[in-house]
Amino acid sequence: MSVTDLPKTYRVKSFGCQMNVYDGERMAELLDAQGMAPAADGEEAELVVLNTCHIREKATEKVYSDVGRLTKAGRKSGRQPMIAVAGCVAQAEGAEIMARSPAVGLVVGPQAYHRLPEMVARAAKGIRAADTDMPEDAKFAALPARRRVGPSAFLTVQEGCDKFCTYCVVPYTRGAEISRPYSDLLREAERLVEAGAREITLLGQNVNAWTGTDALGRAVGLDGLAKELANLPQLQRIRYTTSHPNDVTDGLIAAHGENPKLMPFLHLPVQSGSDRVLKAMNRSHTTASYLKLLERFRAARPDIALSGDFIVGFPGETEAEFVETLDLIGAVGYAQAYSFKYSPRPGTPAASMDGQISREVMEERLARLQAALNRDQFAFNRTTEGRICEVLVERSGKLPGQWLGKSPWLQSVLFSGEAAIGDIVRVELVEAGPHSIQAALVSS
Ligand code: 5AD
Ligand code: SF4
Repeated sequence: MSVTDLPKTYRVKSFGCQMNVYDGERMAELLDAQGMAPAADGEEAELVVLNTCHIREKATEKVYSDVGRLTKAGRKSGRQPMIAVAGCVAQAEGAEIMARSPAVGLVVGPQAYHRLPEMVARAAKGIRAADTDMPEDAKFAALPARRRVGPSAFLTVQEGCDKFCTYCVVPYTRGAEISRPYSDLLREAERLVEAGAREITLLGQNVNAWTGTDALGRAVGLDGLAKELANLPQLQRIRYTTSHPNDVTDGLIAAHGENPKLMPFLHLPVQSGSDRVLKAMNRSHTTASYLKLLERFRAARPDIALSGDFIVGFPGETEAEFVETLDLIGAVGYAQAYSFKYSPRPGTPAASMDGQISREVMEERLARLQAALNRDQFAFNRTTEGRICEVLVERSGKLPGQWLGKSPWLQSVLFSGEAAIGDIVRVELVEAGPHSIQAALVSS
């Protein structure tokens, strides 16, 4: 590739959360619209976009080592790829990355990636740039229509966070909370369904803080958006993630009892089972208020499956406080959950708090926490044995004739028989495993 040629092939490598996956898909669509093609498996791409995540440890080191690996491979093959660093590390440390790593052709933050094609064109002429502006909502308007989607698609409805949990970097990397306009979301959802989506997961850092205005000027919340989306006949399932306990509305709870397309699943992070730790985290909810919310969701939708996020080893967390988290887990019975060792993030208040916990203690607590969560996930899977339910087929399984899909409760379901990707089939859940469940097709 000479310096003025545009790259012809690209690869987007997304790390971290589902919103990054969504952003990665949209960047790929932007590059497609410029006439570039995704590099085939095993082929070196002429443009590599590292779509980075900054939420936990070693994110920046990982970028430098990925850049090093790509340049080394480039030296071997005699063709250096153009490297773009995108995502939250780009936002937090873009200028530094540009200065330290001449192999990086451009840096683009999560709110500015609609400018990726023009930045690629400039980088091809040797003009390196970093764009970490946060123009409000300009990005979505500038993106091309959705074309390539699987049966289960993501739709970002809300971005950013105003909560400032003391451990978290998101309010700094993703900026203030913004809600995308209602009419734009309806249009994008229609396009997703036309392109083959049967399930849409509404995404946001605080998805249930989403608010919009309908055509008559009335305020709409996430429950109203889900209600409107349920009118799309080919759309069968609606999910949303991630929610914050403080933004849960009566309407959202009620929607789980009223909207049959809203799946019986709730990801509601709590982070810790100790009220002292929650206060130090600036979570502005208590374990009691959290449990009360779950009770109300369960009253609206008794079979709702629950999921959460947990951090072990927050500064000052004592053994007794950690045990309170285990107790909370025991009281809830999560169907699945994510758990992490606390990672000090530069510039966040918790990073300079007293009482930083050693790695050994964190590892030991994480192992105990995950043992409890795995136990509960398996137990949840067993409670669903014998249920007849619908499964959305997402891909073929490892064995011949086998399919993998998702149950309403977001379990991975394996079955064999007549089916195709995108089908919704009826199955009986037969044999639970810790991470998936075997099922048999039943005639409807
Ligand atoms: N250390 C560990 N885990 C974190 N999370 C956010 N920030 C940190 C951090 N500094 C976790 C929280 C959040 C999830 C997306 O990542 O549990 O809910
Ligand atoms: Fe981070 Fe807290 Fe905002 Fe979630 S609510 S993105 S953990 S600051």
